[in-house]
Amino acid sequence: MSNFDSALTRLLKTTNPVVLAPMGGASGGRLAAAVSRAGGLGLVGASYGDPDWMKTELELMKDVKQPWGVGLVMFTVAKRFELLELALSYRPSVVALSFGDARPFIAPIKQSGALAIVQVHDVDQALAALEAGADALIVQGAEAGGHSLRRASLPLIPAVRDAVGDEVVLIAAGGIADGRGLAAALLLGADGVMMGTRFLASEEALPSNKLKQRLVRATAGDTVRTRAFDLVRGIEWPEQYSGRALANDFTARWLGFEHELVKAPASVGEDYAQALREDNTQVRAIWAGEVADLVNDVLPAATIVEQTLRGAEQALRGARTLFD
Ligand SMILES: Cc1cc2nc3c(=O)[nH]c(=O)nc-3n(C[C@H](O)[C@H](O)[C@H](O)COP(=O)(O)O)c2cc1C
Repeated sequence: MSNFDSALTRLLKTTNPVVLAPMGGASGGRLAAAVSRAGGLGLVGASYGDPDWMKTELELMKDVKQPWGVGLVMFTVAKRFELLELALSYRPSVVALSFGDARPFIAPIKQSGALAIVQVHDVDQALAALEAGADALIVQGAEAGGHSLRRASLPLIPAVRDAVGDEVVLIAAGGIADGRGLAAALLLGADGVMMGTRFLASEEALPSNKLKQRLVRATAGDTVRTRAFDLVRGIEWPEQYSGRALANDFTARWLGFEHELVKAPASVGEDYAQALREDNTQVRAIWAGEVADLVNDVLPAATIVEQTLRGAEQALRGARTLFD
């Protein structure tokens, strides 16, 4: 395979442009380390920030010589700044911020010597994140697993590129699971890709094999967008965001009736917590994107990285034959 070089690899000092999404509950230290050791950027998914979980998983990054990072949800860190301080105490080279106002966090991240990368979902958010001082942007389309806004990746990536100019480093996320997706994202104006759902079906991801096999069997048509899993957990997501997850008994009950969850009896939340403890995939959320169609096996993370790079090289070299 040939060497890869883009503005993203130069910024991150990685050898390839594959970034592991900071998936809460899935991207632990073992998975992040595997992606970083494979030459990409592994992001530990600290998400809403459980300090004990963060300590356990970030401890695993101490032996990783390659660049790695941590992902945090901004509307949570806005209330609990100590979560950012905890993350920075492990000296990540990147902090990825999603969902919220980046302004309070950029300076402390940069002062620590880390890069501040912000996930955005439309052109206005992209411009605001740059204004706040972001070092790079993750441009996420609504095909993504987990939470997103409404815009699809295919037109969003070039629209953000046009709006921000050539110098800004862009990472495409949402709907990318293989080399074809990486090749397409590069041609649309991105400098690299972030993949979540594909890495959820990796050997190193934290969830059970039962959950991963459910994803392997699923197709894009099995995904739904809902706020039900947020409402039942009492997480105060801004209303415009919903999450894409696999349909199950829980979504069959609550999809379209999410407003009722707000005043549902406490037993509904207790039953959900019980389903989480029991890993009951018919009830618990399995966040997954439209690439469920393309995820047909559980692989070591390094194999996913390697196949993605190989596939992109093949796709891009093949495309050269289209014009003479
Ligand atoms: C299981 C799962 C959990 C996720 N958790 C988070 C999270 O905690 N924080 C976050 O910023 N994004 C989260 N995401 C979204 C990812 O960061 C990323 O934008 C998305 O996975 C990219 O789209 P893809 O799933 O098509 O690769 C999650 C995605 C998945 C699939």
